[in-house]
Amino acid sequence: MVGALSVALLCTAGVTALPAAARTPGPDPSDTPRTARTTGDAPRLPGGLAKTPPMGFNNWNSTHCRAEFNEEMVQGIADLFVAKGLKDAGYRYVNLDDCWALPARDAHGKLVPDPQRFPHGIKAVADYVHAKGLKFGIYTSAGTKTCSSVGFPGALGHESSDAQQFADWGVDYLKYDNCNNQGVDARQRYRTMRDALQATGRPIVYSICEWGENKPWEWASDVGHLWRTTGDIGDNWPSMLAILKQNLPLAPHAGPGHWNDPDMLEVGNGGMTDIEYRSHFSLWSMMSAPLLIGSDLRKASPATFEILDNKDVIALDQDALGKQATVHTSESGRWTVVKQLANGDRAVALFNETDQPQRITTTATDIGLPRAAGYRLRDLWQHRDYHTAGTVSATVPAHGTTLYRVSADRHWASYPPSVETGTDRTPLVEAGAATVLRSTVGNLGRTPAKDVTVTLQGPQGWRIRATSAATAHALPGGGRLTTTWRITAPPGTAPGGRPLTLTAGYRAPGGSRITTTLPGTVQVVVPPPAGTAYAAELPWLTSANGWGPVEKNTSVGERAAGDGGPITIGGTRFDRGLGVHAPSEVSFYTGGRCTAFTAQVGIDDEVGDKGSAAFEVWADGERVAASATRTGADPATTLTAGLAGAETVRLVVTDGGDGVDYDHADWADARFSC
Ligand code: GLA
Repeated sequence: MVGALSVALLCTAGVTALPAAARTPGPDPSDTPRTARTTGDAPRLPGGLAKTPPMGFNNWNSTHCRAEFNEEMVQGIADLFVAKGLKDAGYRYVNLDDCWALPARDAHGKLVPDPQRFPHGIKAVADYVHAKGLKFGIYTSAGTKTCSSVGFPGALGHESSDAQQFADWGVDYLKYDNCNNQGVDARQRYRTMRDALQATGRPIVYSICEWGENKPWEWASDVGHLWRTTGDIGDNWPSMLAILKQNLPLAPHAGPGHWNDPDMLEVGNGGMTDIEYRSHFSLWSMMSAPLLIGSDLRKASPATFEILDNKDVIALDQDALGKQATVHTSESGRWTVVKQLANGDRAVALFNETDQPQRITTTATDIGLPRAAGYRLRDLWQHRDYHTAGTVSATVPAHGTTLYRVSADRHWASYPPSVETGTDRTPLVEAGAATVLRSTVGNLGRTPAKDVTVTLQGPQGWRIRATSAATAHALPGGGRLTTTWRITAPPGTAPGGRPLTLTAGYRAPGGSRITTTLPGTVQVVVPPPAGTAYAAELPWLTSANGWGPVEKNTSVGERAAGDGGPITIGGTRFDRGLGVHAPSEVSFYTGGRCTAFTAQVGIDDEVGDKGSAAFEVWADGERVAASATRTGADPATTLTAGLAGAETVRLVVTDGGDGVDYDHADWADARFSC
């Protein structure tokens, strides 16, 4: 059976990517086609389909080609769409991905459903889905075979027959992939299938999946209803982030009936935290992305349902204006992303890319609302309304997103003042020792917040004590309460993260009591040993990696832990070091005890002369060393940094500005002097 592997190979475009012939680059972009347009006003397909981004389910991200992808699963998802209210929330399409067919066509050239997975055929599944008032989607490739290494039949040269077969089965949505395309021009291939689908007379949403290789946003608005803009998403933070950054700048090209597709949702698949999944869902909705659930809802947690069923957030995605959000500000990992909405409101995402809580701030007029004494501010994850005098601000947890809908509403004063809570950092503490943390509660409204209290709660048995005032009788508009806390971890506490919750309570004038909580963590750390400490031997605080886990003393293998090779740069082999894949970040606790860091950095020889990346060393939020972009053709270069007094050190690898393909980066011989 084809598993995750075959596709991981294809999609990471790492060392093991498909041979060049299978991924022939598209036509010369200078060859401007007849229908090329570069804005959201481009021509579109007739028929009024996908006026808002399609919503539904696709099995790929949860099952790949594993056996659990079958009739029972598809029916189970359709059942849950109805039973769990997801249908009411707008989810409509239940879509099959690759591996639903047998490898060979029948004697008449027709596609044959895999009898193991779909014993009653595809029409029966489509009928089941339709009977629930839902719609049904299918997948094939604009090539001779699909992307799975088993090689299921693709539609190249069979467009009319396959489109008719899909229409006969009752297909409402086709995802059309790009593998094994035999070098045929992408525009031609995707138009041929468009015409074949139209010739069937059945309205079918047409999803172009050529991974952004031929810039479909420039030519496909009258070819497909949506087009993938990137390679495949993985169920991990760096992948989601990299895709976000590729898709955000494409905002001008999206609009009703023609959407940018940054790939399907990973929410609930387990590789990210719920905070990260909320960011993923928030940002996909802000980008007017298709919302195709990619987790097996039969096994989903209540938190997963709560995220996917957030109607306040879905309303942004499905807003009738159909404007993809744009980046308003982006600075050191603190983002404000703004979406204009049909009724004049603005949605603003305060997105924290960093691994520390960050205060992120903008104002109502800055994001395009008219000047006013006050505004209504709806927190779309709390589902609560507040008012603000103009500041739109929050301390956002690491990797989190605070999402507001801001309205010029003359009844703003009827809502309680928005109160902002935050801490100055993620505290690190050694077992048996104490650390200091500062929290702030600030009133962003015009009416007072009364009877303010703030508490900080850590694990059982810890000592947490306020060393300054933790209550205020009233905080006027613009007022702040700053509290200093002393946090002591009991001796013998094992290293690792523990929950630390900041709770603020207050009363609106004449109103009931409001409580807001800010989830955070306190990290129990171990000091580095004196002398030379190799990076591969120190525990890390956090690690994030483009593909597969960070490896100790080997290169990165892209998949499971321990699957790398010997670290080798420019023909020199190194016994020690870290093997990573851009974009990557590994952080260490140095506790003010280390003076210097040094490493031999470069791209591992295993990718030949492909790949490029740049290396950076950060000490407590300051970049203290950076390499030029290194390529696979370069030898190792020495990177050294002074660390005096730093509490933490981060080793960062960026993609060198050209995407992450083949970026196997080595921190060879990486060590700290402590
Ligand atoms: C490609 C697509 C994925 C998925 C797989 C199936 O990689 O980009 O979304 O459909 O093929 O093989």
